[in-house]
Amino acid sequence: VTLRSLLGVIVGAVVAGWWVSLARRPRGLAGRIQLSSMSAAHAPVTDWALAQLAIPSRGRILDVGCGGGRTIGRLALLAPHARVDGVDYSPTSVEASRRRNAALVESGRSAIRVASVAALPFPDLTFDLVTGVETHYYWPDLRENLREVLRVIKPGGELALIAETHKGGPLVWLYWLGMQLVRGAFLTAAEHEAALRDAGFADVTVTIGSNRTWLLARGRRPQPVGAATVSRPASLST
Ligand SMILES: C[S@@+](CC[C@H](N)C(=O)[O-])C[C@H]1O[C@@H](n2cnc3c(N)ncnc32)[C@H](O)[C@@H]1O
Repeated sequence: VTLRSLLGVIVGAVVAGWWVSLARRPRGLAGRIQLSSMSAAHAPVTDWALAQLAIPSRGRILDVGCGGGRTIGRLALLAPHARVDGVDYSPTSVEASRRRNAALVESGRSAIRVASVAALPFPDLTFDLVTGVETHYYWPDLRENLREVLRVIKPGGELALIAETHKGGPLVWLYWLGMQLVRGAFLTAAEHEAALRDAGFADVTVTIGSNRTWLLARGRRPQPVGAATVSRPASLST
């Protein structure tokens, strides 16, 4: 091994580490480039998962870790009378989301803010639906952060975590390696289910795509004991 080839490996590893670290928190020009490629790359899994949800045609929706903002635009199309907000702790992501959804923001149908999932800047019981696409791997404390998401969901409202990969299915070792590089939480379907239940979600389901890799984890905020369960479907499109 020559000094030159060793230096090449070290520089290559540093550059690769820097590039993948941008997925956790996009920043700068490279972050902007990555956001636009991620929006395109995550479109198939996002659309697969959104097609399974009862998107409230009115009311309030939040996309957490909104990145480049494609999901906000998609939700606004699927729920034409809903308000669709977004948060991301990366200012670069928020800027890209706002730019992509400028018409929605200007019309007052969307507000996109810098905020962490650890402290959402919303009152209790605000949202009918909260989505998170390819983001929960990076959350600082998944169970605590799920409790924070639960706090802002209305009774009967839903959380949908959407992921391109989970610890199961084909090529699991390859995905495991990728998740080590991005320092992401790599969970099985059962671990997703347990995390949602532990945080207080009810009606928890985990659906795996036909490719055996995509994952949709859903849970509802329980209705208060004694509340009628017929109130919510009136606001849902089916
Ligand atoms: C891989 S990108 C996915 C972006 C977008 N949801 C998509 O599907 O293209 C992950 C996003 O989650 C955001 N994120 C990670 N940790 C977060 C946290 N604790 N609070 C809010 N956003 C977070 C990152 O800044 C980044 O924009």
